[in-house]
Amino acid sequence: MNETELLARARPGRNDPCWCGSGQKYKKCHLDEDSRGAAPDAPARPHRRPLRPGVVSPRRAVPATIPRPDYASSGRPKAQGRDVKTPEELVRLRRACRAAARVLRVTGEAVRAGVTTDALDEFAHAETLRLGGYPSPLNYRGYPKSLCTSVNEVICHGIPDSRPLEDGDIVNLDVTVYLDGMHGDCSATFLVGQVDGEGRRLVQVARECLAKGIAAVRPGRPISDIGRAIESHASRHGYGVVRSYCGHGIGETFHTTIQIPHHYDPSLRRTMEKGMTFTVEPMITEGTWQDLLWDDGWTAVTADGKRSAQFEHTLAVTDDGAEILTLEE
Ligand code: MF3
Ligand code: CO
Ligand code: CO
Repeated sequence: MNETELLARARPGRNDPCWCGSGQKYKKCHLDEDSRGAAPDAPARPHRRPLRPGVVSPRRAVPATIPRPDYASSGRPKAQGRDVKTPEELVRLRRACRAAARVLRVTGEAVRAGVTTDALDEFAHAETLRLGGYPSPLNYRGYPKSLCTSVNEVICHGIPDSRPLEDGDIVNLDVTVYLDGMHGDCSATFLVGQVDGEGRRLVQVARECLAKGIAAVRPGRPISDIGRAIESHASRHGYGVVRSYCGHGIGETFHTTIQIPHHYDPSLRRTMEKGMTFTVEPMITEGTWQDLLWDDGWTAVTADGKRSAQFEHTLAVTDDGAEILTLEE
């Protein structure tokens, strides 16, 4: 399938509800405008230059007094945590998650045009240490920084560098904190200055996709319910859902073996259980859902250069739904 066909398939049918949420049929609402508008395979807007790698600063130090995860020096995670947590483990996980939520909020407050992503990394690093935590990304499988900063067409795992944020960019900050022997993981996409309407709509729908995914969490239901809820919301708006990167089980291990796809995979039969902890972190794209990897081995970008937005929470399955752990008190 080429890009044009992919996008045509992502549009609603003539008699389906319009993607804009008006409640009208697509043919009565945006169908004409979509058919007249920019060709689906039009190049990225000319004023937005493709992102290029910048200079990565030397590795930041962590004081010896801060407890570290097993991979902190070797780069190789070993521990394999259990999927279902005890109440005592949940107490510790909540503390790590609350710290991550705080680091994400204060780092997000520093986002503005002219600030380099490296400066945001320095900020997140310092705030994590101040809370007594270790920044989980640092040396995780050799990752060089404490934060992931994913700008515009970067889907995830963007490495902070010397590039200053520009007016009109969107940037996802992904924070993970290791505290009390547990990892808490969350992310959000921030607007830099004046972002065009299309970009704002993408970010808003990505936020809604996370909410829809969380609302689908329920013990006894298959894990595939989560991706089904997310994909149906994204495609209603004409957006793609990235498949190469998934939510994951989390706790004493950063990424356990449970995977949470954000698209609908009906072959996934495993069910959610009370006490399971995992992330939901949909990556939603303006165009194709397909990704490419930069030569740095980390930075995942959309195959068509269009933008991607992401939001993430760490969750625990409760008796009748989900507890969002990555919230501040
Ligand atoms: N926080 C990311 C996630 O949501 C993982 C980052 S791994 C790193 O799963 F090595 F890039 F930091
Ligand atoms: Co995650
Ligand atoms: Co994350």
